[in-house]
Amino acid sequence: MKNKKLVLAARPSGLLIKETDFRMEEEDIRPLKNGEFLIKVLFLSIAPVMKFYMQDGAGIEAPLQFGDTMRGRGVGEVIESKNTGFKVGDIVQGKCGWQEYKICDGTPYHMMYKVKQRKAPYSTALGVLGMTGFTSYFGLYHVGELKAGENVLVSGATGGVGSNLGNLTKIKGARAVGLASTDEKCRLLTEKLGYIGAINYKTENISERIDHFFPEGIDVYFDNVGGEILDIALSKIRRYARVALCGRISQYEKRQDSSEYDLKNWYKLGLNRAKMEAFFIYDFEEHFYQAEKEMAQWIAEGKLTYQEDILEGLSQMPIALNRLFERKNKGKQLVKISE
Ligand SMILES: NC(=O)c1ccc[n+]([C@@H]2O[C@H](COP(=O)([O-])OP(=O)(O)OC[C@H]3O[C@@H](n4cnc5c(N)ncnc54)[C@H](OP(=O)(O)O)[C@@H]3O)[C@@H](O)[C@H]2O)c1
Repeated sequence: MKNKKLVLAARPSGLLIKETDFRMEEEDIRPLKNGEFLIKVLFLSIAPVMKFYMQDGAGIEAPLQFGDTMRGRGVGEVIESKNTGFKVGDIVQGKCGWQEYKICDGTPYHMMYKVKQRKAPYSTALGVLGMTGFTSYFGLYHVGELKAGENVLVSGATGGVGSNLGNLTKIKGARAVGLASTDEKCRLLTEKLGYIGAINYKTENISERIDHFFPEGIDVYFDNVGGEILDIALSKIRRYARVALCGRISQYEKRQDSSEYDLKNWYKLGLNRAKMEAFFIYDFEEHFYQAEKEMAQWIAEGKLTYQEDILEGLSQMPIALNRLFERKNKGKQLVKISE
């Protein structure tokens, strides 16, 4: 049996990656050793951090070397096993890499979790019922400490993480307003994703629009983008507000030439006895199954809808990754690798 994989061929520079930054290779799948299992990959996840895996590892992982299989999470089916913890037919999600088949030894580095829920399609194990959804869940409920009746502002609201936050807010009896770059994305927020309002941050005055929706101020700001939008949100927080720092996608490029935005309104935290806290999703690992179970139930009950943006075929992976930086994706960007 053969495996196709995309390996790193060049380091990206600038906003978009090039197809030539990768090389498609084909190899024979070797026999399994004791303790290993073979996964047939069904879907691969696309996330902003992947570009940094190609550059310097983003401070999370060792930088990829030329010829290494591109790193990334996937969901797949175990089709052969010499590992007592994983049996044929198990559906797993973890570090699969950009390839059609993955041989895994089940060690912690691979962060291989069994997909236990059977209420939603397996693709959701990379989106709303995977790391992306867990990031929304723990960022909003644990870091944001959301309570009923509160006002929530979300940046990057139509992205993988943001697209879950409108409904997760609503489920707790609170109200969320999301920021997005086009009117079409704004409509998606209010028509499908549980947001009570949307702000087109490209064409509208963000500050005025926040005042319009939340004249009394913001209780929770869930930040996916950083920079100037974070600064405006800080100027609108109310007493005891919580600012959950999830990501800062607007600043990633600026990191390279040290032109990152300097916050001016951080002092509002002190004035309002508010807190701002960054988090890393893997710090919540022991609670992942609880979040999966609860959110799968909400999906089954129709309380939590999810948004996926799916391309097909391994060769589409670089195009799919660029869609994040071109802002084309609506919801969680995925690539379907096999049936
Ligand atoms: N803390 C953690 O453990 C953790 C875990 C997962 C992800 N993250 C981070 O969380 C953030 C969101 O991840 P994701 O998977 O949801 O990414 P995503 O699907 O790419 O969504 C990000 C959204 O941000 C918006 N955006 C892009 N560039 C922007 C800019 N320059 N200014 C303002 N908005 C911009 C885009 O929507 P528009 O078209 O509306 O601009 C996009 O939909 C990322 O920064 C990611 O690195 C953190």
